[in-house]
Amino acid sequence: MKIAVIGAGYVGLTTASCFAHLGHDVICADIDAERVGRLQKGEVPILEAGMPELLAEGLASQRLRFVVGAPNAVRNAEVVFLCVQTPQGDDGAADMKYVEAVAREIAPVLAPNTVVVNKSTVPVGSTLFVQRVLSEAGATDGVSVASNPEFLREGQAVRDFLNPDRIVIGCENPESAVRVSELYKGIHAPVLVTDPASAEMIKYAANAFLATKVSFINAIASMCEAVDADVREVALGIGYDARIGFQFLHPGPGWGGSCFPKDVSALLYAARNAGYEFELLQGAVDVNRAQYERMVTKVRDAVGGSLAGAVVGVWGLTFKADTDDLRDSPAVAICKRLLDEGATVQAYDPAAGEQARRLLPAVDLRADAYDAAAGADAVVLLTEWDEFRWVDFERVGAAMRKRALVDARNLLDPAAMRRRGFNYDAVGRR
Ligand code: UDX
Ligand code: UDX
Repeated sequence: MKIAVIGAGYVGLTTASCFAHLGHDVICADIDAERVGRLQKGEVPILEAGMPELLAEGLASQRLRFVVGAPNAVRNAEVVFLCVQTPQGDDGAADMKYVEAVAREIAPVLAPNTVVVNKSTVPVGSTLFVQRVLSEAGATDGVSVASNPEFLREGQAVRDFLNPDRIVIGCENPESAVRVSELYKGIHAPVLVTDPASAEMIKYAANAFLATKVSFINAIASMCEAVDADVREVALGIGYDARIGFQFLHPGPGWGGSCFPKDVSALLYAARNAGYEFELLQGAVDVNRAQYERMVTKVRDAVGGSLAGAVVGVWGLTFKADTDDLRDSPAVAICKRLLDEGATVQAYDPAAGEQARRLLPAVDLRADAYDAAAGADAVVLLTEWDEFRWVDFERVGAAMRKRALVDARNLLDPAAMRRRGFNYDAVGRR
């Protein structure tokens, strides 16, 4: 089928290149001409496993093309995916201005019977909202709107798109729902066709549940520290229960990223607006915020009780490993807290690049883990990049002022670290 994808970000680029991989004819548009130029040359502007190969395949087969501006992509499209950002507004709600702007822009040029699909995470009621905007802006009759939320994890987006746990389609028009489901031919997963509001709610509920699960294990980790139990053992013990499962039971510095914080905030906002105080979810947010502070306290303890004048080496700045994304990263928030308390922060991250310079101008960015540890009173490991497992800790220890390490991702082996003479602390470990 002829597909247009608007927005070549993490979600749009994955969606476009995967649909081309499935054999569809895809035109992907972005407002950012520099990004489009790079993509046309086969350069991937984000770190995503498998994306360079898919992009090369799509361009070579001419099934995947990139253009500047949404109208240029939608003219002959049968299905149009909206993948522009829906950032968090000041009031906590999801900001729909980009979705609205694109809908107004494409309405007059949409072909009859086109299906417009919200793939970005949008509040409940957005399918009706986009339908209204399209008809106001001159879309021909027969244009319908559907919700088809994505559940992609950054770093594994291509794998998650091609091997989804389920495909969710929300649409009042059964024929349009069938057309959207047919796009996923070749992918083996349950297809849940439902009403738009339920589909939109599924996305928020899924992210809110996962965020709450992470806050739960972080809270249990705090309990473990108080009663001298080991959270890793606890996670194992409860994870065997299929009703709980092992996934998303890794304690850490707290959750962040481009989705959880804004989606949880948008759900809390929508609940309040609907007259429901979502205390459980608010609790997950409060635990998450406190978790950032618990990490700062661990570092303060590791350097002897005061951060003023201390040198802290930071390993990892992205919100999780295997991505270059620093949006709402716990590591970035914790670095700012360390700076606030007068510490000198020298950080290394394998992928953070330019964004880190912009977001953390006061942080001294270093070339590798050893360089970040040089002369430090303590090192704090904030992102679970695999390479941090394999550093030469003798060399690290020798380069530091004091051998103190806070492992906020429980990546390392406590006994081995202590054998190497490190004052080692982690999250909920005995
Ligand atoms: C998007 C949605 O923002 C988010 O709600 C959802 O949860 C995940 O998908 P992401 O792909 O990470 O997030 O967004 P981003 O990486 O910011 O990409 C959005 C792209 O849309 C950018 O490249 C931007 O240039 C482009 N865009 C934005 C347009 O092409 N036109 C616009 O009018 C606005
Ligand atoms: C998330 C959802 O997983 C995905 O389905 C949705 O489409 C977008 O939002 P992503 O933002 O890429 O994906 O991150 P995810 O892998 O879910 O991690 C979110 C945060 O939770 C990260 O900060 C991560 O470090 C943290 N986390 C996750 C933990 O601290 N422990 C865990 O066990 C899992």
